[in-house]
Amino acid sequence: MLAALAAVSTAAPSLVPRGANATCSGYKVSQASETSCGLTASLELIGEPCNIYGVDIKTLVLQVDYETDNRLHVKLYDAAKHQFQIPDSLFPRPGGCLSASKANLKFSWEKCPFSFTVSRKSNNEILFSTKGYDLVFQNQYLQLSSSLPDNANIYGLGEVIAPLRRDPSNTTQTLWARDAGDPIDQNIYGTHPFYLEHRASTGNEGPRSHGVYLANGNGMDIFLQNNSITYKIIGGVFDFYFLGGYQTPQTVVTQYLDLIGKPVMMPYWSFGFHQCRWGYKNVSDLQFVVNQYKSHNIPLETMWSDIDYMDQYRDFTLDPVNFPPAEMKAFVDKLHANGQHYVPIVDAAIYKPSKNETYDVYTVGASKNPTTFMKNPDGSEYVGQVWPGYTVFPDWFSPSTSDWWTESMRNFTNRVNVDGIWLDMNEPSSFCIGSCGSGKSNPAVLPFALPGTPGNPVNTFPEGYNNQTARPPTTNYKRSEMRMLLMKRSEAQNGNFNVNYPPYAINNGEGNLAGHTVSLNATHYGDYIEYDVHNFWGYMETQQTYNTLLALNSSKRPFIIPRSTRPGSGKHAGHWLEFLYMYFSITGVLQFQLFGIPMVGPDTCGFNGNSDEELCNRWMQLSAFYPFYRNHNVLGALPQEAFRWPSVAEASRKAMAIRYSLLPYWYTLMEDASRTGNVVINPLFFEWPDDQSLFAADRQFLVGKAILVTPVLEPSATTVNGVFPGNGKTEKWYDWYTQKALGYGADKNVTLSAPLGHINVAIRGGYILPMQQPSYTVAESRKNPFELLIALSMNGTAQGNLYLDDGESVNPQGTSLINYTMANGKLTASGNFGYHETSKLDKITILGVDTRPSKVTLNGQKLQSWTYNNSALNISGLNGSMTESWTLVYQ
Ligand code: GLC
Repeated sequence: MLAALAAVSTAAPSLVPRGANATCSGYKVSQASETSCGLTASLELIGEPCNIYGVDIKTLVLQVDYETDNRLHVKLYDAAKHQFQIPDSLFPRPGGCLSASKANLKFSWEKCPFSFTVSRKSNNEILFSTKGYDLVFQNQYLQLSSSLPDNANIYGLGEVIAPLRRDPSNTTQTLWARDAGDPIDQNIYGTHPFYLEHRASTGNEGPRSHGVYLANGNGMDIFLQNNSITYKIIGGVFDFYFLGGYQTPQTVVTQYLDLIGKPVMMPYWSFGFHQCRWGYKNVSDLQFVVNQYKSHNIPLETMWSDIDYMDQYRDFTLDPVNFPPAEMKAFVDKLHANGQHYVPIVDAAIYKPSKNETYDVYTVGASKNPTTFMKNPDGSEYVGQVWPGYTVFPDWFSPSTSDWWTESMRNFTNRVNVDGIWLDMNEPSSFCIGSCGSGKSNPAVLPFALPGTPGNPVNTFPEGYNNQTARPPTTNYKRSEMRMLLMKRSEAQNGNFNVNYPPYAINNGEGNLAGHTVSLNATHYGDYIEYDVHNFWGYMETQQTYNTLLALNSSKRPFIIPRSTRPGSGKHAGHWLEFLYMYFSITGVLQFQLFGIPMVGPDTCGFNGNSDEELCNRWMQLSAFYPFYRNHNVLGALPQEAFRWPSVAEASRKAMAIRYSLLPYWYTLMEDASRTGNVVINPLFFEWPDDQSLFAADRQFLVGKAILVTPVLEPSATTVNGVFPGNGKTEKWYDWYTQKALGYGADKNVTLSAPLGHINVAIRGGYILPMQQPSYTVAESRKNPFELLIALSMNGTAQGNLYLDDGESVNPQGTSLINYTMANGKLTASGNFGYHETSKLDKITILGVDTRPSKVTLNGQKLQSWTYNNSALNISGLNGSMTESWTLVYQ
């Protein structure tokens, strides 16, 4: 571990690390007292400061609270409270107070040197222990480690493009929000310091899961290596939550979402198919795509616009030539008339006009409200550079920003009646280093060619483009200019606070922490500095946009898809994955289920580079089984809409027919996620937590618990390997297409036929799927008759749910939550029926009926219209109400 400390920043002018021989002797408990829900203690630095990457803080406070039976809060902070702490107002936490004797987790400690251990009371199992590891608490560097079991099963710690199960012996996860699309194993857009650890059965008892959330938003590295997890953080405090979980990984996720907030309910229509691209150059292009989808009979629910629609890439404007307001209005009105939707992009940075230009969005923000935009340490405007040229960045901490954002959005949505907002570049991204445009007139052109334009043919940014025109960031702030927070800090460290080059260099893929974003010394209202709150930008913009959309229309659920997320973002929005790799789209979707952002999906067919017929064929089918289903690609790349190749069109129609027939199931899963914290997409080990062979399985996944998807992820393949957990032993699986039971046995890695255009989908016995006949749009599909598809388990049982409401209200007038249960040939529908569904129940299909029934009755009345083939009982012509109780029996 000490060797790892030697990997130091070369840019640490005043604090030179002492290298591999540095030892920090840690802290000792000097005073302690019990509280009604835990304990509090003072800790003193032992011996001389070691000052490896900052200045040691001499006195710390430890606060331990048993908040619930399964949530333990352990916080270690500087007694003087000079370190940054996440404001409660920004991220409210539920708190709680339970006596230690009632909790399932146990906190224990050693007092000198101080270390702590969190264990599970029932079996004394250690979940987290810092014993034997250095504890460092300095103004710009915090370090703490815990032991991990051999070959630990760790999930989470993102956002990252990586396999679902993190490599326990060689993972460096950096958390620093970064505009970077495709790098594997590096920090990208979102920052989620949460992991779930899952342990196999030891023989005496079943498997166990627990979770650890570090509520620290500063830049950090998290290492998994040598049977340990190590946090190296460049600020803030240690603020841990231990979540007891227990038998199932899902309990851990639920406990985590109880803490950070459950996902917001999405509108029904958002489960339809979305089409986007960068490079639709005018309204005719948009209309062409809409028409083509229609003429190819490929369902299109939502048309999106990338930055092309704006006037010179300026937010809340329309390009007067190519996207004139009247044409745009007509286009969107027509979409709406056809039951379709429209979502435009809004970028994070606001264009700063040159002297002779007008751009009201900026002028109103800057003149009426001097704190609307982020500042330099001297109080001048921080000016970066993004698509439109020089830009400023909204300061979400400022109380004036909220009204300005809402008014800007109102002015825009008065012209274009949008159905949602796509929030991009909100790490926030900036193409120059430092405040680069102050006092200069705006460049007429970007400092580099956009991809797809002459000189930069396809998809790559020119080498080193983020170093353009940059004024180097100030290395040392001028004390007189810095704001209160830094002044306070300087007390503890005699001015040795290196804001732009923190002495410990986290493994930011960009190198310089200011690279491709705003500088760390940029300031916010309330004396916050970017150094501490960088990772919050996307969350805060999303939260404000959520409030803004509600302010503009309080009855409709906001639909927001942001790029940069953090814990709690799911309360307001979904997320998209800008991925190049089809395989990693699965792991990305699974990762975000753990983070409480279930409405997620990739740039289907791939963002960067040209897609091709085969890739797009496979991917359009795969993404039909993700919550968020959108095709999107980069400027200059070949078109990749589903209609561009006949085979892709056909494959898409097939997969979309499945998706749209399952819309009632998707919507029910979403409501369940939002109410209970259950994930929408399950990794296999969530459902079979004692099957070690599934702990790393991430090439298959479950939609809900009932649908197993086994996609082809390799080129030129005609078969795919997959598993059918427990088949024939504890589970029974049925093929989606043939509806026949699969006879594979519980063997691992069955080879399935998978010609191009076919995605393997299996239904899990024991589940009831509410379905509706698919139509072109979600609204039309909702008018069609319902069907229940019942897949019987090995012992002839099944259960399922259906949630119904108006599909768009924040507080729907009426809701129905219907439970279906089936056992011994008897199927009942019961529940609450506050929402009256006008579409009828037409059909019930029951798979796995071993013998031909002699009689079928509904509420005691004999039914005539049924058939029995291949162990499937098909009952049709029911014309029954969906929102009433009933009982169906076959004998
Ligand atoms: C960013 C987004 C991408 C978008 C592009 C242009 O790269 O991630 O989705 O197409 O900006 O707006």
